Amino acid sequence: MWKRVSNFAELSWKLNNHKIIRKMSLIRNQGLINGEWVSSINSETFNVENPVDQSIITQVPDMNIDDTKLAINASKIAFDKFSKTTAKERSDLLRSWYNLMVKNSEQLAEILTKENGKSLAESRGEIKYGNSFVEWFSEEARRINGEILQAPMNNRELMIIKRPIGPAALITPWNFPHAMITRKVGAAIAAGCTCVIKPSEETPLTALALGKLAQDAGFPPGVINIITTGPKNSASVGKLLCEDPIIRVLSFTGSTNVGKILYKQCSSTIKRLSLELGGNAPYIVFNNSNIELAVNGAMACKFRNTGQTCVSANRFYIQNNVFDEFLNKFIQKINNDIKMGDGLSSSTTHGPLIKKSQIDNIENLVNDAISKGAKLHCGGKRLNNIGSLFYEPTVLTDVTENMNIYDREIFGPVAVLHRFDNEDDVLKKANSVPVGLAGYFWSNDVSQIFRVARKLEVGMIGVNEGLISCTEAAFGGVKESGLGREGSSHGIDDFIDIKYLCIGNIQY
Ligand code: SIN
Repeated sequence: MWKRVSNFAELSWKLNNHKIIRKMSLIRNQGLINGEWVSSINSETFNVENPVDQSIITQVPDMNIDDTKLAINASKIAFDKFSKTTAKERSDLLRSWYNLMVKNSEQLAEILTKENGKSLAESRGEIKYGNSFVEWFSEEARRINGEILQAPMNNRELMIIKRPIGPAALITPWNFPHAMITRKVGAAIAAGCTCVIKPSEETPLTALALGKLAQDAGFPPGVINIITTGPKNSASVGKLLCEDPIIRVLSFTGSTNVGKILYKQCSSTIKRLSLELGGNAPYIVFNNSNIELAVNGAMACKFRNTGQTCVSANRFYIQNNVFDEFLNKFIQKINNDIKMGDGLSSSTTHGPLIKKSQIDNIENLVNDAISKGAKLHCGGKRLNNIGSLFYEPTVLTDVTENMNIYDREIFGPVAVLHRFDNEDDVLKKANSVPVGLAGYFWSNDVSQIFRVARKLEVGMIGVNEGLISCTEAAFGGVKESGLGREGSSHGIDDFIDIKYLCIGNIQY
């Protein structure tokens, strides 16, 4: 049985200038190791801030490698029993967790908005999306079947069985603090693995709230452990998770640069790696497209989470005949539809960027482009009157190769529009980057749709669609965008070992 939780924070705040006091019973200010809510061994903490105004929401433990070793050991001990559970037991556990997530959706969304800044509408969308992975994997758990093979001899039977790979380390980002956890944990648990989760230092509260709900759902101690680490310990804890031989798979969502470091660190133990890394999505609009729909798609695809999404449109390529129409309609829609502000306010559609380094980077990219001759159509500056992390939705054209923004993943509310002449040219440009996560194109020519879909070097494609993520889809990239797939029936593969059995000398 679980020990009742003794020490948790209750957060109160004034919502939208009304005197509504909310009690956030899911806000935790301790990590979760072996079923216990614990502080760090050395009692150090770090602040979790609201990006809207940098106010401190609460403090959580700054756990280091000693704390992490405890979590890894807990996951090892728990694995021994958990790996022997039936698929039905794991399915039921995930279903109970999912039901609690649904019941607590509104509170989860508010916590998410507080620590990440995205609007409440977007947070609600993410919670629904994130919950769906747990529901999905509660169903998939019961379909992890093996294979019977044709033997080359009459006295043999051959088969493949599937076994959980072992304790899993899950390192998750700040841009989707709920969905990136559930997409990994759901698959790991379905397979029979135990987990050590290291959420981003910017957004640990959503992770801890999920931990609390997992506890309430009846997860045994040590099956889900959550380590909170601040900037001081993040790299060393990440390294330990990569190098500790107990951990058999590392699943990471984040930048390609960090992914490369983790890849190297994991080589010492030949760990299984699931990497969902950076993108630089092309968004192509051919002359024959429905421009109205292409503009609507661009709004969702570019500005989801204020542009801080791996699958965001990053390079717009618009064919010559429709360039001006697309540009004008896009700007008009940006001016009409986007209202930046505190995500908790009902009129806000888009929130701030997550941190100073993020907005500094956006500002530098835009200023560099303008100083070298790019044309600014809207935006182009900070919105300091709302808060220090707000940046206006921005559209640039006439961007050339000598500008830093030309081939970088922007990760902010800045759209760069290029003209193109023909299909071959645009495909060359679209495929000219070392990454390939998502890509989008708009066309009403069936042959062109199949041709371009085959040739685009990305793992996921939206054809006449700007939002493609869902639990049923295999999410992942090619080239330097990563390894493996998340969601779908393939999401479980990274947490499974295939074992071949040859049963010989059978007397038939
Ligand atoms: C990401 O940006 O890393 C994930 C976005 C998604 O799941 O759609």
